[in-house]
Amino acid sequence: MSAFSKFFLTSISLLFVLFSSCLDAERSDSNAPAGLLVGDAQRLIPWPSSVELRGGAPWVFDLRQIQAELDLSDEADDRWGAEGYQLEIDSAGAHITAATKAGLFYGRTTLRQLRPTLCEGDPGCPNGYALPALIIEDAPSFSHRGLLLDCCRHFMSVDFVKHTIDALALHKMNVLHWHLTEDQGWRVEIDAYPDLTLVGSQRINPDGTPHGGYYTKSQIREIVAYAAERHIEVIPEIELPGHSRAALAAYPWLSCTGDTLPVANRWGVFKDIYCAGNDSTLAFLRAVLDEVVELFPSTRVHIGGDEAPKVRWEACPKCNARIAEEGLHDAHDLQRWFIEQMGEHLATHGRTIVGWDDILEGGLPRGATVQSWRGMAGAEQGVALGADVVVSPTSHCYLDYPLRSTDLEEVYSFDPAPPALQGGPGHVLGGECNMWSEHAPEHLVDSKVYPRAIGLAEVLWSGRAHTARTGAYDEFLARLDGHYPRLDALGVNYGLETVPVALTLAPASATEGSGLAATVSAAMRQISGEVSWRTSGGETSLGPLDTPFTVQGLGELQVQLTHRGKPASEQESFFVAAHLGAFSDLVLDYEPSQHYTAGGLQALVDGRRGSLDFRDGAWQAVQGEPMIATIDLGSAQPLERLSARFYHYQDAWIFTPSQIHWSTSLDGNSWTSASNWISPAMLAPDSVQDIRSHSSDDMGGRLARYVKMEAVNAGPCPDWHAAAGQASWLFCDEIVVE
Ligand code: ACM
Ligand code: ZN
Repeated sequence: MSAFSKFFLTSISLLFVLFSSCLDAERSDSNAPAGLLVGDAQRLIPWPSSVELRGGAPWVFDLRQIQAELDLSDEADDRWGAEGYQLEIDSAGAHITAATKAGLFYGRTTLRQLRPTLCEGDPGCPNGYALPALIIEDAPSFSHRGLLLDCCRHFMSVDFVKHTIDALALHKMNVLHWHLTEDQGWRVEIDAYPDLTLVGSQRINPDGTPHGGYYTKSQIREIVAYAAERHIEVIPEIELPGHSRAALAAYPWLSCTGDTLPVANRWGVFKDIYCAGNDSTLAFLRAVLDEVVELFPSTRVHIGGDEAPKVRWEACPKCNARIAEEGLHDAHDLQRWFIEQMGEHLATHGRTIVGWDDILEGGLPRGATVQSWRGMAGAEQGVALGADVVVSPTSHCYLDYPLRSTDLEEVYSFDPAPPALQGGPGHVLGGECNMWSEHAPEHLVDSKVYPRAIGLAEVLWSGRAHTARTGAYDEFLARLDGHYPRLDALGVNYGLETVPVALTLAPASATEGSGLAATVSAAMRQISGEVSWRTSGGETSLGPLDTPFTVQGLGELQVQLTHRGKPASEQESFFVAAHLGAFSDLVLDYEPSQHYTAGGLQALVDGRRGSLDFRDGAWQAVQGEPMIATIDLGSAQPLERLSARFYHYQDAWIFTPSQIHWSTSLDGNSWTSASNWISPAMLAPDSVQDIRSHSSDDMGGRLARYVKMEAVNAGPCPDWHAAAGQASWLFCDEIVVE
């Protein structure tokens, strides 16, 4: 609720008052409080399109057509706040009042949302259109409403960054948190250290392809100015002390070991970080920050601070000397000291720092704002210590996560300032959604960001008083329906709201014959699709969603999805094994990890196989244990082959088994070996992420009722591994009996 609602409740006449959300336009139509709507709210207000737009930028209104007034009175700040506004539309036109230019901008943005979508593009506004007569008084609940854009894992063009700024502005977001330095790429030109971009902006991907790019100072100034015109502050993130491999590749003397390392081309957390004992490293970072603050006028600079392993510091004579000289407790305290050095330097430029919640590990660095990402615990700790906090927990705000982890409804349900964060002495400035780009090159980013970021925009602008109401989400969806065409007009390649389709599998009935009965059904609004079945023998069309069919053998159900009449940006597929053992009884001698059950204790015979994404819900896993599983086929059957697939991804501590033993039985008591496979050795380091299949020997029709798989865990991660000595994971998707 806006702070100044009381002001207008006395003066309703032919107008209605409502409280704006980030999507005002449709809200005014669909959610006008009926009791307040008097007379004819829809009036035709003719505005010639020829003067409607200026310079082809549809979001910059020509103020000749709208009266906009800065309230310069003494009470103005109290009345409107830093970003609030009043928008009044009647037959005389539109009138916006605010205490600040930002407020006027948000008033114009609301007006923009009220105008026809046609006004967004060519040929522009029609020569007269209806607008509701209304008064909106509006102000945001949170002052920090942001999106993190990671342009390091994948470089993104200047045009794309501007496109993102445009979309943020449409949704009244006011912060672009621009992630500019990482292990996998340094993206900001620094005159004093040219190798940061010459060397550090380029990498060779594991498949041999080069990837790189950086922003020149002039491009950065252009982007910062473009954002400022839209009342968006660009906060640069210069990661330290960790996530710094690209800088170390350019200048190896910045690290503890001085080793020459390439720009990282794998994802994850790396041991080599800036040396905190080396004065030259500190001087380097101060010089970098001097150039950064010259480019970015933001009051805060994000210094990262997350995921900085301390192994190098603990072994480094210089870092240990620093700990001793400064009277620090340990490496965590050294991190606090290190970040404070940066904070003190930035303070000489009149700036403060923001850091990920990891910066609390050695105690809150003086003056730091804390960005909570590992849940809300960091925010709670920060608030208790008197810090400002920004919230972006993985539970609700990570837009690189798939929809099955975080869908639109989940984002919309986010509470940025629950009671635990309201007791002070610090407070919540607002939140961000985080778009990390490990798995999202530029062309996929929109489909991950929208519509979920629009949900978060509404949470941050309108606050829980609005979004937690009964029915609020359905209202939001109804307004979103009217908003999608505007996104289309602006070239926003939005994705889906939730997991779009669901697969059900069951044993085929007697009339259906052998195989599995399957249905792929729609699980989202405005979705349709065509299903096909692809096997090594070819592809068969199975018809539209919700059509039941029967499949035989091993293959992939592919779904070509259509969302709102257009091909969806991502297609769905399911890997299915219609085999002899599917839906038989299964007994496990282990308890699957609760994070990777694949759906339950029968998951290894449910007909679903996994994809290359080991989090897709079809993989079952255990850590540090073997997988021993026994299938009861119900009656003796002639068998040709037994097989299972295992996931391989060393970076995620997932190893294929060291041994697999297959055996069969007629009675469940006496067992006959079918084959035994032994891994040659613990595999050498690689960054491969793939699926490895293991089969028994040809069984030549051997009769058996029971089948047993014993897959031996590979053991602790080997010495060469980043997690040497830790228990490794074993992942299996299905035991296939043929
Ligand atoms: C983060 O996601 N490492 C902040
Ligand atoms: Zn060191």
